[in-house]
Amino acid sequence: MAAAGKAERAAWLRAELERHNHAYYALDAPTIPDAEYDRLFRELQGLEAEFPELLAADSPTRRVGAPPLKEFPPRRHGLPMLSLNNAFAPDEVEAFDKRVRDGLETIATVDYAVEPKFDGLAISLTYENGVFTGGATRGDGITGEEVTPNLRTLRDIPLRLPGTGWPALVEVRGEVLMYRAAFAELNARQRQRGDKEFVNPRNAAAGSLRQLDSRITAGRPLSFFAYGVGAGGDGLAARTHGDLIDQLAAWGFPVAAERAVVGGCRGLLEYFAKIEKLRPALPYDIDGVVYKVNRRDWQDRLGFVSRAPRFAIAHKFPAEEASTEVLGIDVQVGRTGAITPVARLKPVFVGGVTVTNATLHNADEVRRKDVRVGDTVIVRRAGDVIPEVVAIVPEKRPTRDLFGGVPLHPPFALPETCPECGSAVARGEDEAIARCTGGLFCPAQRKQALLHFAARRAMDIEGLGDKLVDQLVDAGLVHTPADLYGLSAETLAGLERMGEKSAHNLVAAIDASRQTTLARFVFALGIRNVGEATARDLARHFGGLDALLAADAAALQAVPDVGPVVAASIAAFLGEAHNRQVIDDLRRAGLSWEEGQPAAAGLQRLAGKTLVLTGTLPTLKRDQAKALIEAAGGKVAGSVSKKTDFVVAGEEAGSKLEKALELGVTVIDEDGLIQLLEKGEGQ
Ligand code: IVH
Repeated sequence: MAAAGKAERAAWLRAELERHNHAYYALDAPTIPDAEYDRLFRELQGLEAEFPELLAADSPTRRVGAPPLKEFPPRRHGLPMLSLNNAFAPDEVEAFDKRVRDGLETIATVDYAVEPKFDGLAISLTYENGVFTGGATRGDGITGEEVTPNLRTLRDIPLRLPGTGWPALVEVRGEVLMYRAAFAELNARQRQRGDKEFVNPRNAAAGSLRQLDSRITAGRPLSFFAYGVGAGGDGLAARTHGDLIDQLAAWGFPVAAERAVVGGCRGLLEYFAKIEKLRPALPYDIDGVVYKVNRRDWQDRLGFVSRAPRFAIAHKFPAEEASTEVLGIDVQVGRTGAITPVARLKPVFVGGVTVTNATLHNADEVRRKDVRVGDTVIVRRAGDVIPEVVAIVPEKRPTRDLFGGVPLHPPFALPETCPECGSAVARGEDEAIARCTGGLFCPAQRKQALLHFAARRAMDIEGLGDKLVDQLVDAGLVHTPADLYGLSAETLAGLERMGEKSAHNLVAAIDASRQTTLARFVFALGIRNVGEATARDLARHFGGLDALLAADAAALQAVPDVGPVVAASIAAFLGEAHNRQVIDDLRRAGLSWEEGQPAAAGLQRLAGKTLVLTGTLPTLKRDQAKALIEAAGGKVAGSVSKKTDFVVAGEEAGSKLEKALELGVTVIDEDGLIQLLEKGEGQ
């Protein structure tokens, strides 16, 4: 790009960033995801660094936010509220640590105070002689919006500091946010009242705090975390940032429980990895971690560059939100016939993967969000969660104008018939989900049902994957799970990508699955609301299949953990003649299991055995595992000794696992435990 081209680009970036600043700070209605804003911001910073003549006085890189809204009185901060520079990769963290050591002229390892980066909005609280006298949002960093009456409604904010050791005036800095659970409740309430829902907890927090009527704020579940001080900070005894946070905690401010002090770049990166893992389990959103030089005198020595301190940096997680375009809206038919609208997207990199489809959950959601083909949408993918469409960007909706333009697509409507089998689509009263009424007549449901039947945790038929199931169903060879048991190696060998050897292996796997357990069999049937744990409860309670088949809804509710909804769906499943037929056919095909006695008199496979549970198991909760072991006559102990027979270890198992290995005690995982319960020892 020629220099002139760069000037043009910088001007465009400046205008674009200002526009987004306004939408974000003044209107609480972001038009692009944070990550994209960051990208544009960094591009402009890069250009300005390379060509200093492009650094205009009014460049958004020179200030922190947007001017305060007209309606709130302006409030000047005692000390400016600055921002943080961002790092996205380990080498940027390394460069930060190097800059810090260079600045301090030391080669020693520097200690850093580290804490989560709360994803809310920054607030400054002023205390005069220990009394809360006013608070403001960040605004442009120099002057914020005074929201004192609103802040007084937050229970997390002390109105008076205890003791006497505070400076005559001190500004406490921190973040107002909304816990995820509180956000979900608030949105449910908004929905019930027909009010607009919030896109995410941060926007909900901002929208709730920036209310002109503080009674509205008082009804919103806002929280506060303190992470620093502004004016008056010099009057505090704390030598380090860690001590400062302890002081704030002693005054009654909530502070991050996950805070720590670590040494050097290595300590920073280890902390990052730890918090990244912890992130999904935290009750509130964070978008990274913040590293600060721990010694406050060193912080002063390092000082500030134009908009950010040199002694701190934010290490951000990969963006979980990105925007892209909707190419189409399809519907998918699930195993239970549930019809799910799915947005087909222009591929976009988000949450660490390229996403091409995102769920729209159900027809109501699509209507509420008014997602249409051609829309630009914000897509979110957090952790391993299925990507979803969060919201549309209304400004980017294509509109028809006098000269043509792109026509606006009509609102999404559910198909009246199933796209897979043509059966009617029905939706029960009060149900969010519409379903295909075709049952196993519907190939989509049949395919999903077969895959579920063959799954590892169900009948465990190795080699029966989705490509094969597609072929078997499409060729009309398999209608119900029972048909699998009639397949011959010759028939299978005729299918695509099926050699003679794999055909024989599959027949052998199908054959082997005949010998199973009642719990697996019940789970494999794919009854709505009956997962693995419920299937096990049912098997244990009834002991045999006939007793289960004879049970009505009331008898089903006698099973521990089976409530009216689950009982009703089991009863409905068993009430269908074709399901009974499939069960009969399967029995006739030779499926068998050891039948036990009903209820508590079940087999005492763990009689006399002592087990220790440690770590998080993939599906069983701790008390469920304990109940299963005790029902089988075993004992659950709290610590490992030579007398322990088995240690059941899940994720993040700690010292108990080490002890077991040291003593040579057999260590098993959840699968191993289930094997023990189903088959006993030595299998
Ligand atoms: S320290 C000089 N610590 O991130 C600025 N900021 O991008 C010192 N934030 O405006 C800020 N959690 O709103 C700090 N633990 C934390 C934080 C945190 C969230 C926000 C804050 C700040 C923004 C900077």
